[in-house]
Amino acid sequence: MNAPALASIVTASDGLPYLSIANPHATARIYLHGAHVAQWRPTGQSEVLWMSARSNYVSGKPIRGGIPLCFPWFGPNPQRPELAAHGFARIRPWTVAQLSDLPDGSSRVRLTLESDSDTLALWPHAFSAELTVTVGTTLDVELAVTNRGSTPSPCEAALHTYFTIGDIRRIAVEGLAGGTYIDKMANAARTVQAGAITFSGETDRVYLGSESAVVIRDPVLGRRITVAKRGSRSTVVWNPWVTKSAAMPDFGDHEWPGMVCIETANVADDHLTIASGATQRMAAILSVTGI
Ligand code: BG6
Repeated sequence: MNAPALASIVTASDGLPYLSIANPHATARIYLHGAHVAQWRPTGQSEVLWMSARSNYVSGKPIRGGIPLCFPWFGPNPQRPELAAHGFARIRPWTVAQLSDLPDGSSRVRLTLESDSDTLALWPHAFSAELTVTVGTTLDVELAVTNRGSTPSPCEAALHTYFTIGDIRRIAVEGLAGGTYIDKMANAARTVQAGAITFSGETDRVYLGSESAVVIRDPVLGRRITVAKRGSRSTVVWNPWVTKSAAMPDFGDHEWPGMVCIETANVADDHLTIASGATQRMAAILSVTGI
């Protein structure tokens, strides 16, 4: 492994180990648990990712906020609903494979996860996964999954990104107009998006065939967050609003106005089938500008 000047591993006395990154462009925090990016703050700006003050930081449970990795399924497991929602990748310990400083002052971190007897008992496919995070003036998060088995592996994946916003009732999400979404708040009805998305209640949607960048326009914080993507055909949009957030023990009752999830994904109709020996890559590229 290279010896990076700008990243270090911190083991919190009461929590989970994480990588702490501070370079001229940004600071970031990445937990080894779930390869979970929990902070990205470009220099001179406020925090871009949202974290719940009620999050757990224990092995076996997901972290609430940041960028949970959903793999190899999304939502409840369709065959085995008793299994953890959103798959096991976000609750497994990942290994740091590479830490490096790039010539432009950015930092790159590569974490890996391999199938083992525990994962094969949950999902019968051998795989190796890599998460490559490049921390700079943009945040580039790429998940690569290789099928190490001899048969095709059907799977879903999502970079379930939580963003800090001024007020969910005042933002607009652009870039999905004209696209079809599955509305989980309306018995999975399929609906065509008219114009920008605005929010007035619990929202849980999967936009299909969505390969373009999405923009969060936030007049309260006076910024636009752009979520560009590679290798992703779905975008999930989620805010739990009052009742659902109150029902989640790891989500503060009054936190919902300050967050929105825009998830870079391949789920539902856009799920993947990875051929034996093949690698599928999916990335989210985050950037922030003034409004
Ligand atoms: C979203 C789903 O991606 O994640 C929602 O569309 C779900 O249905 C939400 O409630 C949070 O999931 P979890 O398992 O992290 O509580």
